[in-house]
Amino acid sequence: MAILYDASQRIFTLQTMHTTYQMQADGFGHLLHLYYGPRIEGSSSYMLQMRDRGFHGNPSEAGGPDGRGRDRTCSLDTLPQEYPCAGSGDQRQTALAVRDEDGVSGCRLRYRGHEVLPGKYGLPGLPAVHAAPEDAETLRIDLADEEAGVEVSLWYGVLAGADVITRAAEIRASKDRRGNLYVNRAASACVDWMYDRLDTVTFAGRYGRERIPQRQTLGQGRYVIESRRGHSGHALNPFMILCDRDAGETHGRTWGFLLLYSGSFSAGAEVDPLLQTRFVMGIGDEQLDYPLAPGESFFTPECAMCCSEQGFGILTHRLHRLVRTHIVRGEWAGRPRPILFNSWEAAYFRFTGETIVRMGMEAAELGAEMLVMDDGWFGKRDDDTSGLGDWYPNEEKLGMSLAKLSEKIHGTGLQFGLWIEPEMVSEDSDLYRAHPDWAMKVPGRAFTRSRSQLVLDFTRREVRDEIFARISAVLDSAKIEYVKIDCNRSLSDVYSAGSTWQNRGTLEYRYMLGVYDFLEKLTARYPQILFEGCCGGGGRFDAGMLYYTPQIWCSDNTDAVERLQIQYGSSFAYPAVVTGAHVSACPNAMTGRTVPLRTRAAVAMSATFGYELNPSGLTIGEKEEIRRQIQDVKRFRTLAAECVLYRLVPPVKDAPFTAWAYVSEDRRQCLMTAVLLDPQANAPAYRVRLCGLDPDRSYLEEENGEIYTGRMLMECGVPLTDLQGEYGCIQIYLQATYAQVD
Ligand code: GLA
Repeated sequence: MAILYDASQRIFTLQTMHTTYQMQADGFGHLLHLYYGPRIEGSSSYMLQMRDRGFHGNPSEAGGPDGRGRDRTCSLDTLPQEYPCAGSGDQRQTALAVRDEDGVSGCRLRYRGHEVLPGKYGLPGLPAVHAAPEDAETLRIDLADEEAGVEVSLWYGVLAGADVITRAAEIRASKDRRGNLYVNRAASACVDWMYDRLDTVTFAGRYGRERIPQRQTLGQGRYVIESRRGHSGHALNPFMILCDRDAGETHGRTWGFLLLYSGSFSAGAEVDPLLQTRFVMGIGDEQLDYPLAPGESFFTPECAMCCSEQGFGILTHRLHRLVRTHIVRGEWAGRPRPILFNSWEAAYFRFTGETIVRMGMEAAELGAEMLVMDDGWFGKRDDDTSGLGDWYPNEEKLGMSLAKLSEKIHGTGLQFGLWIEPEMVSEDSDLYRAHPDWAMKVPGRAFTRSRSQLVLDFTRREVRDEIFARISAVLDSAKIEYVKIDCNRSLSDVYSAGSTWQNRGTLEYRYMLGVYDFLEKLTARYPQILFEGCCGGGGRFDAGMLYYTPQIWCSDNTDAVERLQIQYGSSFAYPAVVTGAHVSACPNAMTGRTVPLRTRAAVAMSATFGYELNPSGLTIGEKEEIRRQIQDVKRFRTLAAECVLYRLVPPVKDAPFTAWAYVSEDRRQCLMTAVLLDPQANAPAYRVRLCGLDPDRSYLEEENGEIYTGRMLMECGVPLTDLQGEYGCIQIYLQATYAQVD
C-alpha cells in the first residue's frame, strides 16, 4: 500500500520506495502539508508549531472577539498548506484564485472527503504520467467552499517503485451556484517547507542556447520562472529543482518538479517572513480568466515530483526512468533510434528530389539508416516566407511524386522521414488565402509576424481537422517512418474568430488542448512512425510534448562545444534517448567554430544520433571516420538508450575539461567520454573518477586491453593522458569480465 490514511488524525501518507509525502486535514478542515522528503515512517505532524500568529490573521472559525474558542495560533498565512487559496487569509503566493461574475474574488477550501483508487488517474485532453495498474495508486482529496460555490479535487498519483508522485487539480463550479465561476489561477502543485534554507536550480537560455543550469540562493521574497509565449519556450524550461544549499551531484536533498505542459507556465519559490519556503508550479496565469458554468470543471496540467536524498545524480536517475518509462508512450519508448541524415543544414531550402536521393545513396554507403527531408518539400516553399499550410508535395520542385522519392530512398536501403509544421500558416499560401480567419490575429488591428508566419487557430476543431486531413493524406501517400513536427513561432495576437471567449488566458489553454488533441490523433493513427518534436530547436522541449513525441530536437545550435552545455543542462531531467542531437559541418553555421569530427560525434552520441551535413562535401578521410562512428553508435546506442548517466565533470566556466559516463543498469558496461575545453601547455595529469560501477567486478578497457577493478576505476579513476588538442576528446569503453574480484 503506497497510500495510507490515519483516520484518527486525518493524516495522509504517500510512500514511495525512498520518499514520503504527508498531509493532514486539521480540526477546521484545512488541508495542511506536513512533509515531502526522504522516506520516514510515522506521523510528522508534531513538527507543526502552534505559536501566536495574531498579526498574520486567523480564520473566523478559530474564534471571534467574544473569546469563544479563540485560537490565534491558527493562521493560514503561516501554516504549511496543500492547495492555498487567494482570499483565504494566506498572503503568500497561492495555488488557486477564483472570482464570481460580479468580481467578488477568493475562496476558502475545506476538506470534504477522499478516495483511494487503484492505478494511475488520467487527465482529459492533457498529457499525464502513465503506469501499469499494479505500479501506481491514486488518491483524490475533495475540498469545497460551499458559500463560494467552488469545489476542488486534488489528484495524487503514487508510483512507489519509481519514486514519483504526481499532482493535478480539478476545479469545479458547484452545480447549485448562481452564475459562472472564473478561474484566475489554478496551480498543478504547491509544496511548503517549514524551515529550510534552500536553493533553486532552473534551466535558462534563449533560442540557440537552451536549458543552461542556473543556481539561485533563495532569500525572503519570490523567485519566479515563467513563459508567456503560449509555448514552454527557449528561455526557461518548465522544470525546477529545489535543493539544500550545500547539495551537489552526490549529496544533499534535492526535489525535482517537472510540468507536463507545453504552453505558458509559471513556477515560483517564495521565502515568507517566517523563512518558510513555498513552491508553486502550474499553467501561466498572467491573463487566465477561465469561465466555468455551474457543474463544469477545469483540469490543471500535471506536475511530476521526485525527491533524492543523495544529490542531483540520483534525482536525475529517477527523472530519467520516469520520462523513459512513464511519460514517453508507444512503440518507440525505450527503443534505440535510427541513425539518420537530415537535409536541413545540408541543403536548407535548396534541393530537388534528386538531391535528396543522392544524399540518401551516400548516407546509405556510410552505414546510416534513415534520410529525413526537412523543410521545403511542400507548397511553394523556397524560403521561410511562404507555403506553410499547403501540405501538398511540390512535385515540380522535387521532380517526382513523394511516393516515388520515398521508393528511391528505400531502394538505397534507408528509411524515409519528413518535416512538418502543422500549427502554422504563411500569409503567402493557398490555405491563408482561402481562410484568413483561421490565423490568430485580432481583426482590424496591427499584428506580429514571427519567422514571417502566423499561428493557426488550433482552438477550432475545423482548423485542426483540415490540417490533419492534409497531413495524413501525405503520410498515407508514401512510405514514411519518421516525422519531425516543428513549431517556429510563439503566440502573440491571441484571438479566435470561432470563439465567443476572446480572453487570452482561456484561448492559450484551449490552444494547447487543441495541439494535444491533434497530436493524440496523429500518433494514434501512425503508431509505427517515430515522431520528433521541435520548436525552433528546443523551444517546446518539455515533458508534455514527450507524451506525444518520444524525442525532441534539442537545439538549432549544433556546435558541439555549445551542445556540451545545452545537453548537460537538459540531462538533469531528460534522458539521452529523448534528446535530439546531430553532427553538423564545420565551421559551424551558427557560431563559426571548428571542432574535430570525432568530438562532434562523441557529443551527438550522448543523445539520439544523426548527421546534419551534406555527405557529398566530405573528404575520403572524413567518410572513413563517419563509417567508424556509425558502427560505434550501432554498438553503443542501446547503452545510451537505457543507461544510467553520471555527470562526472560538468562543463562549467574555467573547467579545463568535461566528462560524463553512461553505465548500463546491470553495471556491466560503461562508456565514458571526456572533452578538452582548455588545452594548456605543460598540462596537469588530468584524471576522472568513474561512478556507478560494481566495485568488486573486473572491467576490461577495450582499447588498451587492460583490466581494472570497479573499485580502482571509482577510487583512483582513469588517466586522461590522451586528452589533447583543441576540443580533443577521448571515449573509454569498459566491459565487465566474468571474473569477480576475490
Ligand atoms: C526550425 C528547426 C530546424 C529546421 C527548420 C526548418 O528552425 O529547428 O531544425 O527544421 O526549422 O525550417
